Amino acid sequence: MCGIVGCVAKENCYERIYAALSRLEYRGYDSAGIAMLQEGAGFHLRKKRGYVSNLKGRPLAGEAGIGHTRWATHGKPTDANAHPHGCGKFMLVHNGIIENYLSLKEELCAQGEQFASETDSEVIVKLISRAYTGDFFSAVRTACRRLRGSYAIAVLCSDHPGEVIGARQGSPLVAGASDTALYICSDIPALCGDADYICPASDGEFICIRDGKIQFFDEAGSELCKCFTRVLPESRAETSVSGTFMEKEIAQIPRAIADTLQGVSSLDYAPCARALRAAKCVYAVACGTAFHAALVFGDVVQNTVGAHVVCTVSSEFRYANLPIGVGDLVVAVSQSGETADTLEAVRLAAKRGAFVIAVTNIAHSTLAALADFSIVMRAGPEIAVAATKSYNCQLVCLYYLAAQMQYFRTQAYPVWFLSLRDLPAAAEAAFDCFPQMSALAAKWKDARGMLFLGRSLDLRTAAEGALKTKEIAYVFAEGYAAGELKHGTLALIEEGFPVVALSTRRDIASKTENALAESKARGAQVVLLSQSEESLNESCADFRIRLPNLPECLMPAVAVIPLQYFACRLCLLRGYDPDKPRNLAKSVTVE
Ligand code: AGP
Repeated sequence: MCGIVGCVAKENCYERIYAALSRLEYRGYDSAGIAMLQEGAGFHLRKKRGYVSNLKGRPLAGEAGIGHTRWATHGKPTDANAHPHGCGKFMLVHNGIIENYLSLKEELCAQGEQFASETDSEVIVKLISRAYTGDFFSAVRTACRRLRGSYAIAVLCSDHPGEVIGARQGSPLVAGASDTALYICSDIPALCGDADYICPASDGEFICIRDGKIQFFDEAGSELCKCFTRVLPESRAETSVSGTFMEKEIAQIPRAIADTLQGVSSLDYAPCARALRAAKCVYAVACGTAFHAALVFGDVVQNTVGAHVVCTVSSEFRYANLPIGVGDLVVAVSQSGETADTLEAVRLAAKRGAFVIAVTNIAHSTLAALADFSIVMRAGPEIAVAATKSYNCQLVCLYYLAAQMQYFRTQAYPVWFLSLRDLPAAAEAAFDCFPQMSALAAKWKDARGMLFLGRSLDLRTAAEGALKTKEIAYVFAEGYAAGELKHGTLALIEEGFPVVALSTRRDIASKTENALAESKARGAQVVLLSQSEESLNESCADFRIRLPNLPECLMPAVAVIPLQYFACRLCLLRGYDPDKPRNLAKSVTVE
């Protein structure tokens, strides 16, 4: 949601914070700011509405500093609402939502405090300032005890130059170290440009950078012994590419699938064998694109294993009163592993005694820590806000999990299991249709709405294609059951209305083509994506896109690629930025 960073470095401290913020910007980019603390000179502050690049310029002096890139929750994106927020001897940056901030704000106003912003975060720095009697760490702990909700904070105090204190509750926070700098940050990829070692904090923990070292403490103030992990070279995400990150990450899909296949095939599934074999009920929980992957998993398990999977979006999961208990299996899918709705769903499932399997792209994420068993995709860092390669890799992990479930139940792998190794080449082959998809994007550049149609697994791919189109090209789009069209939505079809249809299941191809013929008869412009050229109903489509041939249940991992590319082209043609779409953030760490 937002990205925060704190740094202590004798040299280039401002530049290091700026570089980390540039890597955090995918989490939110409504405004950005940096505060530096220079020994003997106090604070220097620069904060502005808009991108991190607005902070470029003469570096502010100081040996310690904090930085923030914001996705607005309370208060519009303005200079005043930009972080850092100051009060007296303190400066603070915050990621999260303080749910009791209104009552705290009223209490502070009654005590004569004046607020310079509309944010919830400003109450935190005021509480710290009012609790301060000379002990920096104690004041932070005292203030945090008043907070309800989620927070990851980094704080400076002008009485304590060369120190940064962080606290974590419900929003991610990690410490990092290089030979010349010590960090506190929202996520690991942002530190990989400089840090050689990293260590995530857990909820309720505090990180103190002082006297040239990093210490962890619990809420009682007792020091904790934590292990730092060496940063792997491959996790050092690039900070800039020619073209956009989304184009680059689509191009990486075949390699990401291959790396993920290697990863999942070398995992020991014994720790989750019992859950896979004997689960009374299987649940899948996720948000957004990850939820579409969860839906594919549900269909594949149903078709292959014969078990029913209850798929629920995370934000509904907690309130759906599901009968989850001991002996049930919950599969949680999350690229970032920090999505608040999914984390809360997993905490509920764990509290009820269910076995939790996580599918995530970040090994040290909160989700991985909460789960009983984790499957880590090897998609590599995904910087663009719109998920692409991570979706394809989520599907690979979920196919493998479904295959293991089948194996533990029948001692045999599914018939399609060996075809998993064909996915990287098939993904590469899907690139062949990019010129056609680019031409369609140009043709439909000014469309005001689109329908993505499919049945069965194709409906999941249609939903993902629609989401991509909405979130980066800002065109209303809906993934819709092809068989449902005639029950109302057909009324939307008018001359030239764009319809994108998928038909990868041969036994119902004719049904899907009927729906397309109905649309065409009312003026729609139809493109049909399927594995073969021939069509049972020549009049059903204006354009045909040929997809690679795979077992039908594996098609979602490849059929989506033309749609990912189409959405990216449409976005660029419409003059938007696919890496940083308006209103969105890469990881939604608030509910
Ligand atoms: C997908 O393009 C979006 N960025 C969004 O729907 C995302 O999939 C969702 O927020 C879940 O994120 P997660 O996988 O990190 O949990």
